[in-house]
Amino acid sequence: MHHFEYRDGKLFAEEANVTDLAEKFGTPLYVYSAATFRRHFKAFDSAFSGLDHLTCYSVKANSNLSVLKMLAEEGAGMDIVSGGELYRALKAGVAPEKIVYSGVGKRPSEIKEALTAGILMFNVESVAELRRINEVAKEMGVVARVSFRINPDVDPQTHPYISTGMKKNKFGLDIDSSLEAYKLAAELENVEPIGMDCHIGSQLTSIDPFLEALEKLLNFYQKLKGLGIEIKYLDLGGGLGIPYDEEEPPHPTEFGKALMDKLADVPLTVILEPGRVIAGNAGIMITEVVYTKSNPSKNFLIVDAAMNDLIRPSLYSSYHRIDEVEQRGRDNQEYDVVGPICESTDFLARDRELPGIEEGELLAVFSAGAYGFTMASNYNSRPRACELIVDGDKVIVARKRESYEDLIEKEL
Ligand code: LLP
Repeated sequence: MHHFEYRDGKLFAEEANVTDLAEKFGTPLYVYSAATFRRHFKAFDSAFSGLDHLTCYSVKANSNLSVLKMLAEEGAGMDIVSGGELYRALKAGVAPEKIVYSGVGKRPSEIKEALTAGILMFNVESVAELRRINEVAKEMGVVARVSFRINPDVDPQTHPYISTGMKKNKFGLDIDSSLEAYKLAAELENVEPIGMDCHIGSQLTSIDPFLEALEKLLNFYQKLKGLGIEIKYLDLGGGLGIPYDEEEPPHPTEFGKALMDKLADVPLTVILEPGRVIAGNAGIMITEVVYTKSNPSKNFLIVDAAMNDLIRPSLYSSYHRIDEVEQRGRDNQEYDVVGPICESTDFLARDRELPGIEEGELLAVFSAGAYGFTMASNYNSRPRACELIVDGDKVIVARKRESYEDLIEKEL
């Protein structure tokens, strides 16, 4: 459920008319709905209300400071993967004891920053990283709380680029080596193992891979107990998918229920790291058609947003629904919706049925709230788009459009 809807054929974001927003703030333009963010967070978090749990929103999905603040006010913890994300989370007022830090390549400076802040725990992805965290903690005279990211070798049945929990992936420790890693962590003086973690992939549309991974982790938990290692947290990562097109991913309530059935008697605090399911359908991207052009085999809509603004179609062949901002009741035609960047992979949609569109019209690209702006770049020296948050009838500029000066600001 989201708060982008047509009223008399005109697209609204909550109480704001999207055409008015585009006129005032220009295009390409990201528009987020505050009510949708809040609603998604509450729906997800309350799906686990029967369990001792902490929902740590995955900052990488949409890391705009105002978005993080809004979620922190709802009680969200955060899942971070870099010093930069830590900086943002702290600036947004997230309590450090609600922050977990994942990622395969944490640098000593980043480890130090996280220890200084006093985060809840590091999700450690290798023995080398464990030793590094121990060293940094020792220099600082503190003990670092850690959990190991266990790679359960489960196929999440998603796009290979966003699948992370299989043997061939770089993430985590294989389950057999993990026991030795926990033994080492228990011996080292400046780390304390307090949890287990896994994240098997993103945009999962079925619960089964989650349950398969959970079962492996719970078996492993028994082995840990056998060794006398007592942990407190079970972090199940993120990954729940959203409907972009025809997919029918489980509703968070269904997801929560399925997991809770398996966790009812497990005396651990469960951590969840949802990103896309909170942010994805809470944002749209608005773009203007600059030109139309046809050749004998294709009709093109050349728009002012490009792969630097939203790279998902180019990178993962992802589908994003595209629609008119103002419906005019014309017959459908087939189009490639492409951007101005000098690459053939610069497209937002291919062979897409859309009502006859003319130059100067606005299009809305839906489900762009997650991994949209956060993956944007300045390729082709394109200033990054403006981000707005609509909250009822209030419109907040969450990030100003970049200028040409911004493009060269750091260059000599
Ligand atoms: N936790 C960890 C450790 C992760 O690596 C991720 C995502 C998440 C949580 C959140 O996953 P989510 O709930 O959003 O599925 N750029 C890609 C998605 C990459 C996901 C990377 N990790 C895309 O646009 O589809």
